Amino acid sequence: MNAHDLKGRVVVVTGGAGLLGQCFAKAIAIAGGLPVLADVRLDAAEDCSRQINETIGEEQSCAIGIDITDKQSITKAIDEIKSRFGRIDALVSNAYPRNEKYGRRFEDVAFSDFCENVSLHLGGYFLAAQQFASFFKEQGDGHIITMASVYGIVAPRFEIYENTEMTMPVEYAAIKSALIHLNKYMLHYFRGSGIRFNCLSPGGILDHQPKPFMEKYNSFAQSKGMLSPEDLTSTLLFLLSEKSKYLNGQNIVVDDGWSV
Ligand SMILES: NC(=O)c1ccc[n+]([C@@H]2O[C@H](COP(=O)([O-])OP(=O)(O)OC[C@H]3O[C@@H](n4cnc5c(N)ncnc54)[C@H](O)[C@@H]3O)[C@@H](O)[C@H]2O)c1
Repeated sequence: MNAHDLKGRVVVVTGGAGLLGQCFAKAIAIAGGLPVLADVRLDAAEDCSRQINETIGEEQSCAIGIDITDKQSITKAIDEIKSRFGRIDALVSNAYPRNEKYGRRFEDVAFSDFCENVSLHLGGYFLAAQQFASFFKEQGDGHIITMASVYGIVAPRFEIYENTEMTMPVEYAAIKSALIHLNKYMLHYFRGSGIRFNCLSPGGILDHQPKPFMEKYNSFAQSKGMLSPEDLTSTLLFLLSEKSKYLNGQNIVVDDGWSV
């Protein structure tokens, strides 16, 4: 038996075609679960799902189109998944919607872009949670795992971005801290419904960042520093498994000690 046996568990991973989403989906499939890679880029999600199935030699994963900012798209996806599998065990809310102006320095963020990015990401996570929670309530159980971030709990370390094109977007701080609190709100609101709510907050994830940034980032960590997507999977699988069934309302930080 796999250390985190997810045999037959249907797990919807939004942003399933992204950096973390595809890694999560693969780990879920290897643990015996049935990941649904739900992404606004359906073709990319289908490619990722095909690769996962080829790697493990079984038709374990599947892809579905979803836009977390569109209620109809979410309910349609829930209906399709329900009719295919009969149930849904968990939602990993992991999409990363942002507009093309996202990532500018504080002084350069237009009010309209701030509002749009908060609306897409925080609003989209709210909408997906609202629709899945109502499905889970009727089903009698379920689990919503929200991808937050260390930047939802600590102040930005702006010095690590010096001499790079990077910054820590102001919207991100507002969004991720709000998501961690929304997690607690939902836990209390749905008390007794059988639904679990938890956040997973990674530190920085390796994705071809510039060397000066990496060196400064790593100087605040304990051993590895920037993590790979694979470094998060055992924590996610634990959260998804029966072994964590009384872990509820928490924000689990996986960052090699960076935020402490
Ligand atoms: N990568 C990191 O360093 C890091 C660190 C901490 C937290 N996180 C969080 O992890 C999550 C995933 O991040 P990532 O780096 O894998 O992002 P990514 O950009 O690699 O992937 C995001 C995916 O979301 C999809 N998406 C965008 N808008 C969508 C929408 N409206 N509906 C459905 N899907 C949509 C994209 O098509 C893409 O496949 C995010 O919540 C992010 O904030 C990432």
